[in-house]
Parts: sequence; C-alpha cells; structure tokens
Amino acid sequence: MEQVDDIVLQAREELASCENTQRLEEIRVHYLGRRGRITELLKTLGSIEPDQRREFGQAVNAAKKELSEQITVARARLEAQLLEQQLAEEQVDVTLPGRGGQRGGLHPVTLAMQRIIDLFGHLGFDVATGPEVEDDYYNFESLNFPAHHPARAMHDTFYFGDGRLLRTHTSPVQIREMQKRGAPIRIIAPGKVYRSDYDQTHTPMFHQVEGLLIGEKVSMADLKGILREFVNAYFESEMGMRFRPSYFPFTEPSAEVDIAWDRGDGSEPGWLEILGCGMVHPNVLKACDVDSERYIGYAFGMGVERLAMLRYGVTDLRQFFENDLQFLRQFR
Ligand code: FA5
Ligand code: MG
Repeated sequence: MEQVDDIVLQAREELASCENTQRLEEIRVHYLGRRGRITELLKTLGSIEPDQRREFGQAVNAAKKELSEQITVARARLEAQLLEQQLAEEQVDVTLPGRGGQRGGLHPVTLAMQRIIDLFGHLGFDVATGPEVEDDYYNFESLNFPAHHPARAMHDTFYFGDGRLLRTHTSPVQIREMQKRGAPIRIIAPGKVYRSDYDQTHTPMFHQVEGLLIGEKVSMADLKGILREFVNAYFESEMGMRFRPSYFPFTEPSAEVDIAWDRGDGSEPGWLEILGCGMVHPNVLKACDVDSERYIGYAFGMGVERLAMLRYGVTDLRQFFENDLQFLRQFR
C-alpha cells in the first residue's frame, strides 16, 4: 500500500513540473502504459493475501483513476499554453492597411477589336469565324491565287510541311461562309493571322477583321463610303485618309487605305496602311457556287494592331506583344 502512495506522490510531482506534451506522454507510459508501474502493480494482485487483496485492488484502481485524470488535466493545460504561445506569435495587426486588389484591364488590341466589331454590328454585319490552321485551298487557291502565282510571295507564310499552313489573312473565312450561306451575305470575320514579319509596323502574329458584303447592287462607291464612315466613327475625328490603288488576286479593282501618320521619330509625317479592299473577283464567287452574273460585292481586311496604334498613339506595333505592364496599364 505504501508503494501505491509513493508512486502516486512521485507521479504528481512529475506531472506538476511537466512542461511539454511529449514529456507528458512519457509520464503516461511510465505509469499507465502496458508495462507501466501501476499496470505492473495490478498484475501482482493475484499474489496478494486474499484478505488484503480487495483493499489493495481498490487502492491501485483509485491511483490509476487519479493519475489518468491528472494526465488529462495536464494535457489540457499544456495545449492551452501552446495555443496562447501560437496566438502571441502569429498576432494579426488588423490596423495595418490591406494589400488591396489590383484592377486588371483589357488589352488595347482587344479594345480596338471590340470597337471594330461593335461599329460593324451597328451596320448589320454578322460575326463569322474560321480556323487559324488552314490549307492551301482556303488560304490561296479558292481566293484566285493559282499555284506559283507571284502574289503568294506577298505573304510570308508559315507552312507545316504537310499541306497545312497558318492562315496569312482572314480572307479564307469569305470562302467558308459563302460556301455555307451563299449570297446575299454581310459578315465580318475577326481573328488571328500569321506571317513571318517583324519590324516597327509588323509582327508575326496579328489580328485582322475581314469584311464581306455581297448583294445585287453593290458598287465601289459603297465600299469607299462605308470605310470612310467606319474610319470617322472609329477615330472619332477626321483623320487624313487615302485610297491607294493596289492589287489582290481576289478583288478587282483593289485598293489599300492609308491613314496620315507621324512615326514619332522626328521624321516627316507619312502614311500608315490600315487595310486592303476591293470588289470581290468573279472567280471567288464561282469557287463558292455564287452566281457571278447576278451577285456582286466588296470585301476588306483591316489590321487591328494598326488601328490600335493610331487610336492610342503607339508608334511601335511590337509593344502590344511585349507584356510590359507599365505599357499595358495605360489602357485600363
Ligand atoms: C490582306 O491580308 C488582304 N487579305 C486584305 C483584303 C481583304 C483585301 C479583302 C481585299 C479584300 P494585306 O496583306 O495588305 O492584305 O494585310 C491587310 C492589313 O493587315 C494591312 O493593311 C495591315 O494593316 C495589316 N498587316 C499586314 N501584315 C501585318 C503584320 N505583319 N503585322 C501587323 N499588321 C499587319
Ligand atoms: Mg497591304
């Protein structure tokens, strides 16, 4: 019986001075574990004189109960201490100013694109799209570029080597849509196009918006009129603008439109080409099974980055693709 009291006294002392949960677990195992001191005492119960057995058993059980209660209390105390400590270390100063969110914005090319789509939407043009990976037929052949035609060299095409290529312009969408919907038709086709080009006004990937209008009474004057209207609405001011005769195999006659432009390098003001256009060639209508005796129309293809440059006063087109946040934030 004295032994039981000794064990309890000793355990109490150890518990009182225990400062961490690992030590607490050691104490628990030492007294109450499978080979613990209390457990060992219980195992001796059988060898105790029968008249003392009951009293001894009760004492050991009482000791066991007391110790497990004290261990629970000690554990609660240590866990509370740990929490206090953590809270003190990880204090959050709610009076500090917040980090705040950064407002994003649309890319200037996206802004220009949306503006163009909007303006033509008001004029009744539907939006059509086509694949960026095309084949020779849609990018060239059906647009009246015969094989080996020198005009193919005007496009520095990226070829995959298996007959496929990255479209060099959005004009293939003219063919795809007319083959699907026939005439009359009035669409624009915005999208990415690719050419092996790189300088102040050219990048290897850029965006075009194609326009196509086919009807029974359409003239070059209508084309000039709508482009003049578009340019005025897009820039919200009278820009210097000129139609310059040009050549495309898929239009006849053909023209290109330039806008008065200051290169920003101190040189004489000049012109920046924004689009190509013309009256759709009868061979293109034929490739789409559209009656070229009955139908006539115009088409144009504009460079979206060029329009963005002019509207936002950017003098190097490549800046749009450098992902310089200082540059891009100006357009938020
Ligand atoms: C064409 O791509 C013709 N498909 C346009 C067309 C459509 C003519 C329908 C007639 C009828 P062009 O190669 O000129 O034409 O390109 C059209 C416009 O895309 C140019 O005026 C220019 O604004 C822009 N552009 C051309 N190459 C680049 C480039 N590498 N980077 C940025 N913009 C470019
Ligand atoms: Mg051109």
